Amino acid sequence: MTTPVLEVKDLRVHFFLDEGLVRAVDGVSFDVQPGQVVGIVGESGCGKSVTMKAILQIVEPPGRIVGGQILFQKSSGAPVDLARLSPKSAELRAIRGAEIALIPQEPMAAFSPVHSVGEQVIEALRLHERQWRPSGPRLSRTEARSMTVGAGCASAP
Ligand SMILES: Nc1ncnc2c1ncn2[C@@H]1O[C@H](COP(=O)(O)OP(=O)(O)OP(=O)(O)O)[C@@H](O)[C@H]1O
Ligand SMILES: [Mg+2]
Repeated sequence: MTTPVLEVKDLRVHFFLDEGLVRAVDGVSFDVQPGQVVGIVGESGCGKSVTMKAILQIVEPPGRIVGGQILFQKSSGAPVDLARLSPKSAELRAIRGAEIALIPQEPMAAFSPVHSVGEQVIEALRLHERQWRPSGPRLSRTEARSMTVGAGCASAP
């Protein structure tokens, strides 16, 4: 039997609001096998996005992971429980973007209006890909524009 690349076990993510506790994710479990594509379906507000953000430890406060495990098989070796890592740890930063990436629900709205799309896409490569050469050439206008088209496609249904 193959080892899953990702095992989410009894994940719980709660938001601690002044108005009360929101149990956005309350006991979610699923596996992803190597090469498998998994779709998560549910009504609006049921916790799909929060589950994915929890995997990368980017749930915004006052939300936080309060229980469960997120076991990830790194390409380099032993499995790691992402739920136990500090969001700012070097280990998690090395995984984000390089081994696990997230395309935001509304990618075009997630871009900064004051930086070119090309530069924003390249930033992820600069931060997460070791082979990226920081001294490489800047993007041409044509390259930047084709990246805009690519990012736009990501938001298509
Ligand atoms: N920043 C936040 N502050 C407070 N509660 C939040 C926050 N983000 C999410 N939630 C809560 O978590 C629940 C799940 O939200 P989530 O965005 O994961 O839903 P979703 O399944 O992705 O919905 P959609 O299909 O509309 O994208 C929401 O119903 C809301 O109660
Ligand atoms: Mg969502």
